[in-house]
Amino acid sequence: MAEYDAIAEQYRDSKRLPFREVIERRTLFELLGDIRGKTVLDLACGDGFYTRLLKQAGAAAVTGVDLSAEMIRLAEREEQARPLGCKYLQRDAAAFEPAEPVDLVVATYLLNYARTGGQLRGFCQVCYDALRPGGRFAGINDNVRNPPRGTGLWSKYSFERSCPFPPKEGDAIVYAIVNPDGSRFEFKNFYLSPETYRRAFESAGFRDFQWVDLSLSPDERDNPFWDDFMTNPPIVAFSASRP
Ligand SMILES: C[S@@+](CC[C@H](N)C(=O)[O-])C[C@H]1O[C@@H](n2cnc3c(N)ncnc32)[C@H](O)[C@@H]1O
Repeated sequence: MAEYDAIAEQYRDSKRLPFREVIERRTLFELLGDIRGKTVLDLACGDGFYTRLLKQAGAAAVTGVDLSAEMIRLAEREEQARPLGCKYLQRDAAAFEPAEPVDLVVATYLLNYARTGGQLRGFCQVCYDALRPGGRFAGINDNVRNPPRGTGLWSKYSFERSCPFPPKEGDAIVYAIVNPDGSRFEFKNFYLSPETYRRAFESAGFRDFQWVDLSLSPDERDNPFWDDFMTNPPIVAFSASRP
């Protein structure tokens, strides 16, 4: 059973927390720019939250892939209820090959499941091999440039983020999230250093890997509530392209 089978609905519901909308989603779509007409692979798609938004943003075809059967069940149920033409596959991203190369691979919170440099390199290679030449890989990740000093208490944003400090390669970063309905759940990411990320992208063949700072929705930019999140960001975006 995949870790997310037990927390699939709680994770889905956490997408209603304000930081998801005004920072996470804003950052991802600003980074992606115009995706109309593109073929897209959404690796570690979860319940399809971004898969659907990618399709609604005009992508020609979007396939979501996730290890968790329960996450894929939620995604397919939503597709049946409100069809958009998204396709879903329950697979391990570490061994995934699309039938045809795509224009864009998106991975929100996949790479931080690698526990070793070798596993991270494997994920990066799958993404590189899935792209057509000139295609792009982008997403959101735990911000390994800014590990928490013990427990980072982010209660005003409804989560905690903890790991040993300073973290070692492969250490667990535990997230505890409190949903809008008050229920609390936990999951683990894994720490690998920024240098391990840089090497994994480079050895997979990417040449222009970069971390991308978070962006805040324009209508929230004068709201000091977000200052702590933006100055001490727990998550980060990234971008790379296949030459
Ligand atoms: C934090 S959730 C993110 C879901 C979605 N990308 C989002 O942002 O809403 C992480 C997801 O990664 C999936 N996952 C973890 N390891 C995976 C792997 N090796 N292959 C495919 N999916 C994986 C989990 O099942 C889970 O759905």
